[in-house]
Parts: sequence; C-alpha cells; structure tokens
Amino acid sequence: MLTVPIINSPDFSVESIAKYQQLLEQKHFIYLETDAPNFNWIDFSKLVTGDELIPQYGKEIFQVQWEPELMEFSDARGKKPLLPHTEATDYQNPPKYLALWCQKPSGCGNGITTLAYVEGFLKTLTAEEKKKLMETRYEFSATRGVHSNRTKGATHTILSFSGDKPIFRFSCNYIKYGDYSPNPDNLKPFTPEPFLAEIADRFLEYYDQNHLAILMKQHSFLLWDNRCMAHSRTTYSDPTRKLERIFLG
Ligand SMILES: [Fe+2]
Repeated sequence: MLTVPIINSPDFSVESIAKYQQLLEQKHFIYLETDAPNFNWIDFSKLVTGDELIPQYGKEIFQVQWEPELMEFSDARGKKPLLPHTEATDYQNPPKYLALWCQKPSGCGNGITTLAYVEGFLKTLTAEEKKKLMETRYEFSATRGVHSNRTKGATHTILSFSGDKPIFRFSCNYIKYGDYSPNPDNLKPFTPEPFLAEIADRFLEYYDQNHLAILMKQHSFLLWDNRCMAHSRTTYSDPTRKLERIFLG
C-alpha cells in the first residue's frame, strides 16, 4: 500500500529533512503531493540526498514532455510505454537518484510512473546467475536508434553491492533490442546476449507483478534511488502532460 505524505508548506528544517532521509533509506523512494506550485523541489532533492545535480543531455533540468520526433518510441518524450530500466546505464557514473516534479498531470488517467525495488528479483536468481551478473562487465553504449552515440558508453557489471544495498544497472530495451528507445511496433532485428535476454524476460515478469504505480498529481514530487529501484511508465494520450526531471549523484 502506497502511503502518500501530503504537505501544504514544504518544510526544510533539519528535522524534516532527516525524516525524509530516513524514509528514502527505508523505502528507496519519496512521493509527496503538495499544494505549493513554487515548492523548491530541486533544493529539497539536494538536501535530502546530499548530492548535486548531474547534467542530462547537457541540461540540469530536463523537460519530460512529448517531442514530435520521439512520439512513436519507447522514450520519456514519446507516448509508447517504457520498459523497466535503471536510468543512464551508458553513463560512466549513472545518477544515484532521479527526481520528478509534475507541472501538469495527464488528463487521460494514464502515463503512470512505476517503480520496483530490485531486491525481490535478485532473490529469484541462482547463486551462479548472481555471480555472473556481479563478475561480467558488459558494454552499455547507445549505438543504434534515436539515442545512438548520446554518450561514449560505459562498461560495467550489472550487479554490485554497497553494503547490503544492491546496485543494479539494467535496461530491458537495451538488452533485448540493443536500443534504449526502440519503436515497440517496429523493432529492428537484433540478437541479444542469450543469458541477459533471459534475465530481462524474467525481470519483466517480476516487474509486472511487483511494481508500485504512481499517477503523479499536479505539484507532486517523486524521488527514488536509481541504484536499487527500476522504473518505467505506461503509455498515455494527453500531449499536455508535463514533468521536469533531475539526476543527482
Ligand atoms: Fe527512465
């Protein structure tokens, strides 16, 4: 059951920030609904995470809204559903946290952000599979599709740990189709790495049954730990939906 703190006037006191830090540590995400259009959600995110902004496509604040040329793609700026992923696996250092601010929710009741903590899925893996994910370094590089060459790529293991906390670097689209944002209705031939393709299919099945679904309201705020939570978004049909997104790390 998703419990949603509703805040009228967001509080930046030391006690309040410590409370949200605790919530983030326990649940790996924070979702707040506010009636404060001017809530300084960026400073709030920095204070709660203790991290600074990381640029995305050269900008610190990324506008999540329909782009005509991306409409048919499984992309944040398209209308097609996303597949579960952790963000920016092709960055040398993917963001530790992502935060979204909802300026204008979708009026169609869709465009739902979904999240799943990956630990439950990791428990379904055999010791051998886990070992392989922890020891094999894979190349994450957007060499095809609309995001080809958006970064120089990165080579890293899919799974590592920080203490008990898993760090999962995973993109179902990239693993299955070699493309971060394919058109799901016009998939190009691609031969995925068989072991990872099977893990991706099993992860999709797990995600389908174990995600949280959040339809963000106007002036709501969502922050999550990108290292241990995968995310996705359902399709939607309202072109006026508008979110803002930041990376922190
Ligand atoms: Fe994403």
